Amino acid sequence: MTQQELAPPGLQLEGVSKQFDSGEAPVRAVNDVALTVDHGEFIALLGPSGCGKTTTLRLIAGFERVDAGAIDINGTLVANSSVHLPPERRRVGMVFQEYALFPHVSVLANIEFGLRRMAATEKRARTGEILELTGLAGLEGRMPHELSGGQQQRVALARALAPNPALILLDEPFSNLDAGLRARVRAELGNILHAAETTAIFVTHDQEEALSLVDRVAVMLNGSVEQVASPHELYTNPATRSVAEFIGDANFLPGVGHGDTIECELGILATRKQIHGQVDILLRPENIELLAAQPGRPAARVRHSLFFGHDQLITVQLPTGTYLTARLGPSDAYEPDLPLRVAVRSPVIAYPRWY
Ligand SMILES: Nc1ncnc2c1ncn2[C@@H]1O[C@H](COP(=O)(O)OP(=O)(O)O)[C@@H](O)[C@H]1O
Ligand SMILES: [Mg+2]
Repeated sequence: MTQQELAPPGLQLEGVSKQFDSGEAPVRAVNDVALTVDHGEFIALLGPSGCGKTTTLRLIAGFERVDAGAIDINGTLVANSSVHLPPERRRVGMVFQEYALFPHVSVLANIEFGLRRMAATEKRARTGEILELTGLAGLEGRMPHELSGGQQQRVALARALAPNPALILLDEPFSNLDAGLRARVRAELGNILHAAETTAIFVTHDQEEALSLVDRVAVMLNGSVEQVASPHELYTNPATRSVAEFIGDANFLPGVGHGDTIECELGILATRKQIHGQVDILLRPENIELLAAQPGRPAARVRHSLFFGHDQLITVQLPTGTYLTARLGPSDAYEPDLPLRVAVRSPVIAYPRWY
């Protein structure tokens, strides 16, 4: 076995739950969350605002106590219903949206904050290393307000990395940067974390940000982690209807599953997984084709179109009234009311209908 296989996961959550009992009804902020992050892995925790992402990070860091479940960092139990290691003993570094740099001291003093107990020579060596790693060498004498947003972001990361934490937690770290800067800072941060070989979790509500930055994404909805998978797997094979709706654009069409096939308004479609009974078929806009209508057969009609140049979104209404939106290349024009036949690239994915 290699060293990697012997190493315990960088982070493991099992059955972690947290409820807040403030005001009227209690809020189940985090509900039975399971998540394993490999040692040195960088994953995204992606979900809409209010789904429990920050609370999850606060439970991992030790700023909140778990109601149930267990949290292990590098194989050490740090929290369960009776154990609660204080934050300073968990070796966790945090980077927040607002960076929270100390405004009245230099970049160097900000980075040295977590190294107070280190001997002077050791401290100098470590800060030199970190300045190099984060590309801040030469800027150590500056004050935070003398830096760009992207540079301040790197100082926050440098300060979190300096004490050599077991785990780095980043809470919406790019939302204060303007769109033009974000993609670059994101790539830089990914490279720095990769080079530092630190286990890291990065929280965001922005799916493009999550899908483009990491190898694995955990999707959190309503306090629960619904799927942990690669960006490609999340998009092409969402585990639940809710994940399918949250990631990318989704059309749903009712059908009846017969094992390997589904019968629906568009005909008989092959399925990727066996399914029976009433279902909703997931149709991504780019998997829908619009063809010439067949004479004597009921046709779909163009209802709406949005032209973007590189592609266009065409919404059609099927004979039964269902609307579907297709993403197509720019070459053909689709006039309102144009009669069409709708075809689908299969195999498709479908979810049992429960309503
Ligand atoms: N200290 C608290 N007291 C009461 N409710 C809270 C507290 N912190 C978070 N919540 C609630 O828990 C839910 C999850 O919040 P949060 O973890 O901040 O979500 P996210 O970071 O995904 O936006 C929300 O409904 C929020 O209002
Ligand atoms: Mg939050």
